[in-house]
Amino acid sequence: MSSPAVINGKEIFALLSEDLAAIEREFGRDTVAGVEAITEIGEYLRNGGGKRIRPALLLLSAKLFDYRGRGAVRLGAVVEMIHTATLVHDDIIDEAQTRRGRPAANTQWGNSKCVLAGDWLYMQAFRVALQERNFRILDALIELTQQMVEGELLQIEKLGKLISLDDHFDLIYRKTACLFSVCMQMGAILGGASAEQEENLAQYGRDLGMAFQIVDDVLDLTASEEVLGKPVASDLREGKVTMAVIHSLERCTPEERAKVSAVLLERAFDSVTHREILEILERYGSIDAAHQRAEQFALLARNAICSFPDSEIKRSLLWAPDFVVGREK
Ligand code: IPE
Ligand code: IPE
Ligand code: MG
Ligand code: MG
Repeated sequence: MSSPAVINGKEIFALLSEDLAAIEREFGRDTVAGVEAITEIGEYLRNGGGKRIRPALLLLSAKLFDYRGRGAVRLGAVVEMIHTATLVHDDIIDEAQTRRGRPAANTQWGNSKCVLAGDWLYMQAFRVALQERNFRILDALIELTQQMVEGELLQIEKLGKLISLDDHFDLIYRKTACLFSVCMQMGAILGGASAEQEENLAQYGRDLGMAFQIVDDVLDLTASEEVLGKPVASDLREGKVTMAVIHSLERCTPEERAKVSAVLLERAFDSVTHREILEILERYGSIDAAHQRAEQFALLARNAICSFPDSEIKRSLLWAPDFVVGREK
């Protein structure tokens, strides 16, 4: 019997559910510290949910090579720990009030404890990754963590500035796409991929990650907090100019530009409303343009894996870009 040509989200979840559950257990065991605050913060974030898209990608990448060892579960927990650490630090930096539909950890434990919990999580992720005894994996994770920290730092330096699309793309590569890429790469390493296969999967992760962050930034502008589970319209208030806004700025009148600048300067929708900004973005088709750009990256991701033979896992990887671009949270 031939299997269907497409696979849906439910089927993919079923395919991965056992391993994802094992990753949750591993994550739970890994985040128990001698100091209660760290365990509590780790648990709080873990229980808050999250899409677990990074571990899912790592699992799919390893499964593409029929990998059956413990490493994928372990490294799945590692990437989710690193992601969690960056979220804890990101919410402190952004002074965010909400994350995953709940009060952000910084509002519950304060910045100082959360900085330290984030640091601890990073180191714990490395301790667990070390169990693989694989220098290439450590190399990728160290490079990744530095890219992410550099990305957040660059973002701070660019706050309030009307940056170019190239600068913006460099930033979102570092803060988001790099982790997606390393998830795919580590799965490939575990699976014993050839250098070319590893590069193709890393490329898939990069393109998917770019699409993911472009959509995250669009949702920040257009979604509701109830659906998103985190504050909306926060990027401009935080002084961050994202793809749709850059698209409008390259086209708009000096008056419209002044309105965007006012929000960036005031770090609030004070003299200019969120509605007014959305009107500018709509006038220049900027939300659509950002969506189209995300679609382009999604297509590039799919193309990057075209040389792999058809399988349920490959079909899952072909589905993921649609999920990322079409998601509402
Ligand atoms: C949030 O990532 C941070 C970004 C890179 C935009 P996710 O949207 O994957 O967050 P969770 O894990 O599902 O909460
Ligand atoms: C993602 O950027 C930051 C990380 C890499 C943690 P954002 O600042 O846009 O993430 P959200 O929107 O707060 O989740
Ligand atoms: Mg943030
Ligand atoms: Mg965001």
